[in-house]
Amino acid sequence: MTPPCVASDETAAETRHDCEKLFSVMQSEKHPATVAKMFDSVAPRYEIITDLISLGQDRRWRRAATAALQATPGDVVLDVAAGTGASSAVLARTGAKICAVDISPGMVAIGRHDHPDINFVVGDAQSLPFADETFDAVTVSFGLRNMPDPQRVLTELARVTKPGGRLVICELSTPPWPVLQFAHHIWMGHVMPVIARLSTNPASYHYLTESIVDWPGPLVIARWMADAGWRRISFRRLTGGIVTLHWGNR
Ligand SMILES: C[S@@+](CC[C@H](N)C(=O)[O-])C[C@H]1O[C@@H](n2cnc3c(N)ncnc32)[C@H](O)[C@@H]1O
Repeated sequence: MTPPCVASDETAAETRHDCEKLFSVMQSEKHPATVAKMFDSVAPRYEIITDLISLGQDRRWRRAATAALQATPGDVVLDVAAGTGASSAVLARTGAKICAVDISPGMVAIGRHDHPDINFVVGDAQSLPFADETFDAVTVSFGLRNMPDPQRVLTELARVTKPGGRLVICELSTPPWPVLQFAHHIWMGHVMPVIARLSTNPASYHYLTESIVDWPGPLVIARWMADAGWRRISFRRLTGGIVTLHWGNR
């Protein structure tokens, strides 16, 4: 199948125009409906591309996020921006009951198909369809960066978490050391676009690079968490800072 953004037939110009328009909208405003549309378009190959782009490290990062969450059997855990359930499936191995929420119906459809044991809900992290203090723990993997108002989402996560409950954010970040920064820049700017051609919407991967560059450092995110009502906040860089884990308690 020809990916829509590199099509060479008469529909190519129109499709490319759509992708470029989508990309520029993403830069100026991460509107949930636009984000959902973009993830719908990459859903069929999302997991394989993620594996390739991260050289399989995403599996290690998901395991680290699950360990940091400290969920135990019987806990009820909310995985926000769960996508196709790659992170939820790792969380489910703890014996906790997982509720997976995502705004993209396309990602959720694949998640429901691949993980029938996990409860998937289509919903917006900014306005979660759950009562106050429902969950023992909440987590977001590679999702907070895509949201227009991350501070609002952190507050919403605090609302649905029981007192004392745990939050873990796992997010892509820029390595703090210049040599790694350079290698990261080369990978994101030159290698990733080649891998992204395998995607069902290669243009969307330009957005990924930009969104990482724009994402603030861990101390800013720690302040957002504190402002949202989280306590005992800390963070740890993984793989030289390509990913950062943030955690705290309600
Ligand atoms: C990069 S994917 C991560 C998926 C999954 N957590 C993983 O680790 O593979 C980001 C996900 O965030 C979701 N997302 C973005 N904005 C959202 C919002 N406002 N509410 C809920 N989900 C959102 C997207 O639909 C997408 O599935």
